[in-house]
Amino acid sequence: MRKYGLVALGTAGLLALSACAGEGAGSGDGGGDDAGSQAPEDILVGVSMPTQTSERWIADGEAVESGLTDAGYEVDLQFANDDIPTQSQQIDQMITTGADLLIIGAIDGTALSSQLEAAAAANIPVISYDRLIRDSEHVDFYVTFDNYQVGVQQATSLLVGLGLLNEDGSEGDAEGPFNIELFAGSLDDNNAHFFWDGAIETLQPYLDDGTLTVPSGQTDIEQAATLRWQQETAQKRMEDLLTAAYSDGTELHGVLSPYDGLSRGIITALQGVGMGPSIDEGLPIVTGQDAEIASVALIDQGVQFATIFKDTRKLAEQAVVSGEAFLAGEEPEANDTETYDNGVQIVPSYLLDSDIVYADNIESLLIDSGYWTADEVASGVAE
Ligand code: BGC
Repeated sequence: MRKYGLVALGTAGLLALSACAGEGAGSGDGGGDDAGSQAPEDILVGVSMPTQTSERWIADGEAVESGLTDAGYEVDLQFANDDIPTQSQQIDQMITTGADLLIIGAIDGTALSSQLEAAAAANIPVISYDRLIRDSEHVDFYVTFDNYQVGVQQATSLLVGLGLLNEDGSEGDAEGPFNIELFAGSLDDNNAHFFWDGAIETLQPYLDDGTLTVPSGQTDIEQAATLRWQQETAQKRMEDLLTAAYSDGTELHGVLSPYDGLSRGIITALQGVGMGPSIDEGLPIVTGQDAEIASVALIDQGVQFATIFKDTRKLAEQAVVSGEAFLAGEEPEANDTETYDNGVQIVPSYLLDSDIVYADNIESLLIDSGYWTADEVASGVAE
């Protein structure tokens, strides 16, 4: 509590200071300076999302937009095409058109320092959305999931798929040894490191006692990383790994994948050398993240083994609630004030929980909650 009080004071102090400095960023209506006294329809919220190549970010953007619109605010929602200059320019534009609040899902967590400087100078609070913006003192709040725990869940689902654990966490019947390969996300995304750390620390005891082996020897995050989380990059790396470490007949049993798009690239590579096509027919266990509809359908068909469900509706709602607090001149409620050090400050955060999706709980987790319909799961296409 005391710690949060100090952090909150720090942020408020910062806002007060930058308000005193009175240096507008050349903005139309002066940005966030007086949002507290404005009618909602006069308040503009800039929402910057990284890409539309993955359906989760489209859903995130639209859910944040509709939550804010329902609350009466004007919203400028932009997607940056996974291109850093595009995102920087979109945020610059939001600041100059007088945004009162920014909600940002960054492409590269370290690339937005000058935009955040400008936002602070115009007294615009900044909420880092899902991915932490690093190396800036001007990140006011962070809404995300418990990213380390997501990594733990990814590794756990791999262990369950291999039969070393049961879904309830008890020890499974399998003994191994098993051969696995490891994939990580984009190194410029702070989350990729949390996912990796959670996963590797979960797998470490099995790697140490020889139950699990990585035949390629590629066990560093730098070797396993996938720039910009690109599916084709993961497919290519998997093809290369198969050629380098498995063409002598070595069997591959499982692949740690931190995102469904990568998982589908990996599965394509595995099937391309004649494995599977399903797990029952010898396809290695492949994990995932995001419960993308194409992957949920593959899980339903017994091709991909698992994914991690992060309910983006809840994250969007949390971003809206936190944003409303700033606009009312208050501090948003944090439930973690220790974990997310962005290199310059510990950013007060609100973390949400995630769940492992297996074939047998698609219905209870995803269909019953209205995230996907049974028809979408059957077709693999969002309607
Ligand atoms: C998100 C994941 C997502 C990945 C790729 C990460 O920052 O937390 O949910 O799978 O980016 O888009």
